[in-house]
Amino acid sequence: MNSFIQKAKQEHYAIPQINVNGLIWIESILKAAEETRSPIILGTTDKVIEFLGGYQFICSTIKNKIKAMDITIPVIIHLDHGLTVENCKKAVDAGYDSVMFDGSKLSIDENIKQTKEVVDYAHKNNVIVEGEVGAIGGNEDGIIGTVKYADLDDCINLAKEAKLDTLAPALGSVHGKYQGEPDLGFTEMEEIQKAIDIPLVLHGASGISDEDLLKAIHLGHAKINFNTEINIAWSNQIRQTLNEDVSLFNPQQILNPSKEAIIETVKSIIHKCTSHNRV
Ligand code: 13P
Ligand code: ZN
Ligand code: NA
Repeated sequence: MNSFIQKAKQEHYAIPQINVNGLIWIESILKAAEETRSPIILGTTDKVIEFLGGYQFICSTIKNKIKAMDITIPVIIHLDHGLTVENCKKAVDAGYDSVMFDGSKLSIDENIKQTKEVVDYAHKNNVIVEGEVGAIGGNEDGIIGTVKYADLDDCINLAKEAKLDTLAPALGSVHGKYQGEPDLGFTEMEEIQKAIDIPLVLHGASGISDEDLLKAIHLGHAKINFNTEINIAWSNQIRQTLNEDVSLFNPQQILNPSKEAIIETVKSIIHKCTSHNRV
């Protein structure tokens, strides 16, 4: 699985991670990726695992959907913001391809120690691991945090000592909507990418301009995470559908247009990440 992200880094594009919030997300994301010939990462945030039915249920549901839809592009099933070492291990056991351990609330020493434990377990099972340095701000499914810029030495140490596959250095990006214009630390980004070989991951991409996304890709980001942008498109469409015909109650009539909204948004994200026509 890592080879797909490494290939993206070498060829200067990013594989989008789109967060799954229910069954229609799975179908719509896969359809958008298949039709644009883009590799894709389906992310499930640890915070919403229970809502999605548990690690085992959601992972096997995604795998069954891939088969049922005859999907031919590479798909990576990823645990987003794994909250504990235990949870990351559960995702590995459930059949995930990739897990993120979010040690952003820990001291760097404790972050390295716990990430290492996740990597040891994951690599034995051919699962790749993403680590985080600093803290991505904003509000993600109820996890509220303030931005803390990643320190260069911490990035080097975590990547090397924990033998990470990908690294998410927090450089001013924010989960959810931005208050004002996003202000990413491109100088720090350049230093980090010069010092570290592994692909970088950009979180909080909803709200970042196309130009800044391309800059981040140029500076070593080969995986970019999107959640809010798709959820806004989905909920706007549901509101519109219900407002247009207040007598509607048939779930398919209400939800089908929202699927189209997800598909169109994911396709536009794929184009922003220039991952289309790569497979
Ligand atoms: P946004 O919700 O801002 O797109 O961020 C997504 C993300 O970083 C998921 O890990
Ligand atoms: Zn994130
Ligand atoms: Na964002």
